[in-house]
Amino acid sequence: ESIYQLRGIRHLQDSLQKKLGIRNAYVVSGNLEEEEYVLNDMAKVASMQLQQTLEDDMVLGITGGSTMAAVAEVLTQMRKMEHVTVVPARGGFGREVEKQANTVVAQIARKLGARYMLLHASDTLSKEALQSVLNDPAIKKVVETIKTTRCLVFGIGRADEMARRREFSQDQIDMLSRQRAVAESFGFYFTREGTIVHEIETLGINFNDFLKMEHAIGVAGGARKAEAIFTIARLKPSMVLVTDEAAAMEIMKHF
Ligand code: F6P
Repeated sequence: ESIYQLRGIRHLQDSLQKKLGIRNAYVVSGNLEEEEYVLNDMAKVASMQLQQTLEDDMVLGITGGSTMAAVAEVLTQMRKMEHVTVVPARGGFGREVEKQANTVVAQIARKLGARYMLLHASDTLSKEALQSVLNDPAIKKVVETIKTTRCLVFGIGRADEMARRREFSQDQIDMLSRQRAVAESFGFYFTREGTIVHEIETLGINFNDFLKMEHAIGVAGGARKAEAIFTIARLKPSMVLVTDEAAAMEIMKHF
């Protein structure tokens, strides 16, 4: 029996928030790797956090992934936010359409009664191609809007998993593991110390924008993501984390 099982989730939440040194941590019971309802609970807490944070004229940045797709799924409109603009935080990557940032953006905007903008820039474009894409006034406008994001809701992943999901070459995968990449968020791969070892070339917010972001809500759970969550949370003391008990316990035990 650990002290957290005896003293409950509140205590775990407080300990996690202190350990990570972040603004707030919310922990839902269970392990999302084992039980389906846990992802749903986490998504509900995240969507409540989002609604509390959103102001009427904000630009809201969103990333893709299955966790963010779940947030979009459970989100219910509390008040209409027609002056909010929802955007993808970075250019599109990932092949499963329902998990792409653009798809999640559109769904969240529909639920909030907000406006949205999509970014159609593949992550397979070269630096030069990305630069020329920016000559398109419509894309330029989207990128400029993304740069004014005041609230970011984002997923956190394991570096190895995200490299696989993005179909990196075996060489790239080996390189990332040699460089000890453990965490991935919005296209950046980090070591446990928070050093960026790889970045997906695309448009949108960069690491510095993330550090300066007024409101950032990270959503990720499952024991396997503990190290990734630990890594990302320590980069941004002002962030709010929504996670599950399994990840929180693992972080308290091992990091
Ligand atoms: O690909 C977008 C993204 O938000 C990544 O930045 C993150 O690592 C991943 O999705 C999380 O995905 P999932 O919620 O499916 O684990």
